[in-house]
Amino acid sequence: MTVFLMRPFVLLPSAHCRALCGQPRLRRLPGSGPAAAGSVPCPGFPEPREEAPFVCSATIAFLCLFLLRGGGGAAGPRAGLGASARGGCRCCVPQFPCPEGGPWAPAPSWAGRGRPQCGSCPGGSPGSATPATGVPQAAGTAQPPAMEATASLLDAAAVGDLVMLDPLSEEALLRTLQERFSREEIYTYIGEVVISVNPYKPLPIYTPEKVEEYHDCNFFAVKPHIYAIADDAYCSLRDRDQDQCILITGESGAGKTEASKLVMSYVAAVSSKGEEVDKVKEQLLQSNPVLEAFGNAKTIRNDNSSRFGKYMDVEFDFKGDPLGGVISNYLLEKSRIVHHVKGERNFHIFYQLLAGGSAQLLQKLKLRPDCSHYGYLNREKSVLPGMDDAANFRAMQDAMAIIGFTPAEVTALLEVTAVVLKLGNVELSSCFQASGMEASSIAEPQELQEISQLVGLDPSTLEQALCSRTVKVRDESVLTALSVSQGYYCRDALAKNIYSRLFDWLVDRINTSIRVKPGEQRKVMGVLDIYGFEIFQDNGFEQFIINYCNEKLQQIFILMTLKEEQEEYVREGIQWTPVEFFDNSIICDLIENSKVGILAMLDEECLRPGTVNEDTFITKLNQIFASHKHYESKETLNAKHVTDISLPLRCFRIHHYAGKVTYNVTGFIEKNNDLLFRDLSQAMWAAQHTLLRSLFPEGDPQRPSLKLPPTTGSQFKASVATLMKNLYTKNPNYIRCIKPNDTKTAMLFTPDLVLAQVRYLGLMENVRVRRAGYAFRQLYQPFLKRYKMLSSRTWPHWMGNDREGTEVLLAELQFPPEELAYGHTKIFIRSPQTLFDLEKRRQQRVAELATLIQATFRGWRCRKQYQQMRKSQILISAWFRGHAQRNRYKQMKRSVLLLQAYARGWKSRRLLRELKVQRRRHLAASTISAYWKGYQTRRMYRRYFRSNARMRLSNFIYRRMVSSDGISASPPPRGCAQGPGPPFVPPAQVQKYLIGLRNNLPPMAVLDRTWPPAPYKFLSDANQELKGIFYLWKCKKYREQLSPQQRAVLQAKLCASELFKDKKALYAHSLQQPFRGEYLGLTQNRKYQKLQAVAKDKLVMAEAVQKVNRANGKKVPRLLLLTTEHLVLADPKAAQPKLVLSLSDIRGASVSRFSDGLLALHLKETSAAGGKGDLLLVSPHLIELVTRLHQTLMDATAQALPLSIVDQYAGPRAWPTWAFPEGAWAGGGVATAQGVSGRAGWNRAAHWAG
Ligand SMILES: Nc1ncnc2c1ncn2[C@@H]1O[C@H](COP(=O)(O)OP(=O)(O)OP(=O)(O)O)[C@@H](O)[C@H]1O
Ligand SMILES: [Mg+2]
Repeated sequence: MTVFLMRPFVLLPSAHCRALCGQPRLRRLPGSGPAAAGSVPCPGFPEPREEAPFVCSATIAFLCLFLLRGGGGAAGPRAGLGASARGGCRCCVPQFPCPEGGPWAPAPSWAGRGRPQCGSCPGGSPGSATPATGVPQAAGTAQPPAMEATASLLDAAAVGDLVMLDPLSEEALLRTLQERFSREEIYTYIGEVVISVNPYKPLPIYTPEKVEEYHDCNFFAVKPHIYAIADDAYCSLRDRDQDQCILITGESGAGKTEASKLVMSYVAAVSSKGEEVDKVKEQLLQSNPVLEAFGNAKTIRNDNSSRFGKYMDVEFDFKGDPLGGVISNYLLEKSRIVHHVKGERNFHIFYQLLAGGSAQLLQKLKLRPDCSHYGYLNREKSVLPGMDDAANFRAMQDAMAIIGFTPAEVTALLEVTAVVLKLGNVELSSCFQASGMEASSIAEPQELQEISQLVGLDPSTLEQALCSRTVKVRDESVLTALSVSQGYYCRDALAKNIYSRLFDWLVDRINTSIRVKPGEQRKVMGVLDIYGFEIFQDNGFEQFIINYCNEKLQQIFILMTLKEEQEEYVREGIQWTPVEFFDNSIICDLIENSKVGILAMLDEECLRPGTVNEDTFITKLNQIFASHKHYESKETLNAKHVTDISLPLRCFRIHHYAGKVTYNVTGFIEKNNDLLFRDLSQAMWAAQHTLLRSLFPEGDPQRPSLKLPPTTGSQFKASVATLMKNLYTKNPNYIRCIKPNDTKTAMLFTPDLVLAQVRYLGLMENVRVRRAGYAFRQLYQPFLKRYKMLSSRTWPHWMGNDREGTEVLLAELQFPPEELAYGHTKIFIRSPQTLFDLEKRRQQRVAELATLIQATFRGWRCRKQYQQMRKSQILISAWFRGHAQRNRYKQMKRSVLLLQAYARGWKSRRLLRELKVQRRRHLAASTISAYWKGYQTRRMYRRYFRSNARMRLSNFIYRRMVSSDGISASPPPRGCAQGPGPPFVPPAQVQKYLIGLRNNLPPMAVLDRTWPPAPYKFLSDANQELKGIFYLWKCKKYREQLSPQQRAVLQAKLCASELFKDKKALYAHSLQQPFRGEYLGLTQNRKYQKLQAVAKDKLVMAEAVQKVNRANGKKVPRLLLLTTEHLVLADPKAAQPKLVLSLSDIRGASVSRFSDGLLALHLKETSAAGGKGDLLLVSPHLIELVTRLHQTLMDATAQALPLSIVDQYAGPRAWPTWAFPEGAWAGGGVATAQGVSGRAGWNRAAHWAG
């Protein structure tokens, strides 16, 4: 896309350059930097690519493209030139427009010989008939390329374009060509037709610098060169989507193949680079060495003569990059395989293989590195000067690898080539059959065996195929022996067929590699390099075919350049004086007429039953073409009484466009038939060699085909017709090659030889038509589309019809009326100058429009950019301001916070200091006051308390005692008797009592409750109280000296007393017994140690109990372990736990009021053990057991054990009536209240209990 969009803007300055200042657009040579030596940057226009980059939108760019391409893909001037539009102003072409900017000044004599010219060119003045002569010329003077080109074109002695020839004559034309040739200028134009004269020596005009010089050049701005036409064709193809064909014609050795290679290499050089593209280019270029090796040979006329016709369609993508191609080959001269005249050679490949093949390869192919060994190589050593066969063989192998041949394919190809070569050495000897008939056999089996080994074939099969022939007579097959000559015929036919089919395979294989994938849109450039016109001493069928092909090409040339041009004037109603030229249609018709053409006659003879030979054929020709202008034979001449000894019998002569050629009809029928005996193709098909086998599909016995293959002549005619059709669809470009001498001598110009070619190539007619006609024509519609911007009336839209629009447009431009002609459908412009002027104006206008578009676009873009920048700037500044403000705010906040913090800190510290001072003051004051108060108190104490403490205490006690005993502490007033109030007791008596008490205090034993009696009655209450106080004090003292164990025992005892005191008779007995807890000696008795493990908790009590069986009342001994969480009953013998009860499962306990050890433990019914009913135990330490159980439960669950001490026991559910008779237990309860019977009941229970 970019390429297309940018392209107009790249081209534009170039046009400007030329238009504005006349300076050639100078290219940068590789590595020359921006200002290469000699390059003068155009002052009128900046370097296109260094301009401010035009980043246009698709629309703008498309508009520019549209404008510059003439809208909608309309072609530029070249499109309308057809085959004839590249003339130029005679005075300043190709440096159009006039470098001096001179006004248009047509010469009055223009119609006759010259062209209109401006009045300012240094080389000519208006009206000058020979403007070119005045141009000073100095060959070899360093000039810019365009100047050189101009000089070359204007040099009267050697004009570059023969259209400028003055005077126009054969001699002048020949002289010009010779003069140019002597200056090593081998290329000359006739308009856009390039004439190339073979220099037979390498010239330094094909360098990369030259490629660069001609790349994208103006056709007339540079010296005539084959690169110019190649560039023009390539640019037309790339930029205007016109398929091109390059027709290279000329006789053998004129340089057609070289020219085709130069065109291909130029296109490869100027098309873009890239890995994939380069690969395609390489493959296309490398097809030449391979095809040349197999299809070229040395002839007398040319050391590298193409013995086949080649037409190569190179396909390009939309950008102009080569994608691939297709090669078509035409009629290989296969007779060369078996025969070539002295001084010529067979196909190059044989010599290359023998010279360049390694010893190992040759051994594998069973070949000898000696050309003189091989019959098909004429048994002569053949080394060509200047041609290195060995190097060429290596180059061919490399080329094959590049194209994509696999090593196996190369080997197979060489094997088949070797087979062909070796077939020439198969010698036959004659023998006679029993019937006396002549037969043939292999004279020397060695060669045959080697061939058979090479292709994997039974030698006898090959021998039979070569020496005999199967003839079908009705349904029977009869094997007939062949004579020696027939055998040799078979051998040669086989060799020719193998080789020609191998060549076809080779072309197919190359096509497989270079073929473009279907589906891609392509542009095509066809390059035709076909064998040139040939006139030999002895011309056969091949020459006839070759010359026919050249005749057709000439016809195309005539049709497209001369005839078509003239016919068009007539068609368009343009006044025109016809130019005489030779039309070769009559010769083409003589050969190809489908009914009475020579080829049709030949086919008829080939297919006709009966006796058929060359004599019948020529007789027929003589009859039919007796009066034909271009046909002669001995017979027809005789009929006209003309004697010509150069025309023998069995020969006919055709007056070709290029001269008279005498053809010998010998071999015509056989070569046209081109039949191969079925035995031979079957033998080849029987070979194991895959490639060889594939070349003979008709040899498959499964596919017998009775249909005769088409004759060689008809095949060739058909393929030539296809080729012509193909060429007609493309825009032709002509390269007409001329051979300067017959001896291949470098730079030797033989005028006679060249003149003959000039004549038959019709160059004079070509020049005449070019000079007489209109240089340019185009349909009105594309013309108007392209140039409508030149008039304000037609721009931007013309509403009328196209012709009127064109007339209006051109009228406004004020061209001289003789310069223009209006046809029915086309506008005709006589001189290129007018066209160039139009183009110049258009380019200027387009430049203006482009500038306008650019300016508008740039303005729009700048405005957009400005608006965008403004928007962005506002956004950025808003963000920035916001950001700055936020930052400022944050900073301020931070500062304020800091200040605040400092201020608060300062205030706080100040406050703290004050508070500290205050506290210290307080502290100091408190300390002082404490000290002071302490001091005061101590002083007071010392003063008042210590000194009178005894007194005060006794007074206090006295007072207390007195107040409590109703005694007055104060005596009645003096002289008064005891009043009615409490009596007065003197304190001495109280003191005496207390002192006496102190001295007679009872012992400190807690159980001692003795206390001295009160001496006075009034002291009895006080005495009693003191006794109590003393006792409590004694108990306190006692408690204080108890150990924790003793304290626990006491607590247990206390708990027991709370539980049982005055409730159960057994309690009284238990008072004497210490609570030991562990009665089993678990630690000493090893047997019981595992029990401890069962009850992992802390052991609270362990003793031996008896369990009363609920079923029968029997007792069983059990060990009881009470831990902080469990109650375990175990078998004393086995020391095995029988029952492990969680304390939380115990719901309560019941004991009797009596002195028995029976304990009923009520279990929760939800527990595992509780389901069986309550547990009835008899314990020797019941009080302790229940007490500890109660305490443990309290510790564990903070809940007291629900204990029932009852006279009456309701009994558990499971209690059997028989075992505990009704009323027995209950009677116990009743007994308490009622006497013996109750007691007896409890006793019974106690008895059960143990
Ligand atoms: N431009 C050239 N510069 C130098 N030598 C050239 C040029 N063109 C042709 N030659 C020489 O002329 C010889 C013959 O040229 P070329 O093979 O192209 O002829 P041709 O026209 O293809 O002949 P044919 O019809 O036999 O194939 C070349 O081998 C080469 O030596
Ligand atoms: Mg050739």
